[in-house]
Amino acid sequence: MKALILSGGKGTRLRPLTYTGAKQLVPVANKPILWYGIEEMVAAGITDIGIIISPETGAEVQAKTGDGERFGAKITYILQEEPAGLAHAVKVALPFLENSPFLMYLGDNLIQQGDLSYFLQKFTNQQQEALILLRQVPNPSAFGVAKVDDSGRVLQLIEKPKNPPSNLALVGVYFFSPVIHHAIANIKPSARGELEITDAIQYLIDEEKEVAACQLEGWWLDTGKKDDLLEANRLILDTYLTSSIIGDVDAQTNVSGRVQIGKQSQLVNCTVRGPVVIGNNCYLENCFIGPYTSIADNTTLIDADLEHSVVLEGAKVAGIQQRIIDSLIGQRAQLTIAPRRPKALRFMIGDDSQIELT
Ligand code: G1P
Repeated sequence: MKALILSGGKGTRLRPLTYTGAKQLVPVANKPILWYGIEEMVAAGITDIGIIISPETGAEVQAKTGDGERFGAKITYILQEEPAGLAHAVKVALPFLENSPFLMYLGDNLIQQGDLSYFLQKFTNQQQEALILLRQVPNPSAFGVAKVDDSGRVLQLIEKPKNPPSNLALVGVYFFSPVIHHAIANIKPSARGELEITDAIQYLIDEEKEVAACQLEGWWLDTGKKDDLLEANRLILDTYLTSSIIGDVDAQTNVSGRVQIGKQSQLVNCTVRGPVVIGNNCYLENCFIGPYTSIADNTTLIDADLEHSVVLEGAKVAGIQQRIIDSLIGQRAQLTIAPRRPKALRFMIGDDSQIELT
């Protein structure tokens, strides 16, 4: 059994963060989203992993993630020259996949720990041509959607339908036998010009191949958008964070709940209410850091109140009078109060940034 992780794409829904980096490397609880998937695969016993990368962000994904040794896996990087669809990515990966059954995993998806092992076992025991995972969602039009009969058999799969036949979305985690390559060879690009994996699975259904569907009971997040990313951050911190304070915390600082503080970080006169993770080499002074906040390495926070937010590496927040909530602050971004007059807001905001003031 091999695994193929798709880590290309343009990440348009996470702009501006994705102008400078891959969406799959955006951290959740201070760890790149992509790595959760890799760790789950290794835990399920799959160690031969191919990662599809794009010309834009491939080098960064490769440099950060490495050859797999740190995960106990062997990683092969496969370049997809153009974003021509998920099924196209499988086509490009054929020399890696060969004749092996494989797990295909969209690199920005997160599913509850342990679920992968469970479904892998189901797939290998039952020898299907494909096993897909479905999850009820409130906004099915944003996903691939399944029409199932009363016994749960999949009748039809439609990619991003305007009038969804159900609220069952296709989770970005699929199990395939090598028969999928035959299906991919027989489908045409969709209206958006992409070879859709959804169409390839539909081809298998039409050919009356064994396509099984399971409903996912645990949580699933497609982290492609800001609010989903914050929700993933909340869930991961809520479920898995354990306390570990390595950095330096002064006597005036009050830490409660589950909190991690990395090495060489310094907290002066702060209140931290977990679950909160603070990376290495951060400096925090006179701050309130509320629940569900992740602060990456090398950040500086002075006179700031933050809650339910993600702060990326090297950012600086200082002197902001109001509490910052539900926010995503990019790498090296600076949010400060200028001492000079006239008293005014001064911005240099990247393309596609979103700022809400009250
Ligand atoms: C892709 C698939 C879609 C699936 C979704 C899950 O969409 O095409 O069928 O439901 O992933 O994350 P994308 O996120 O690439 O728009």
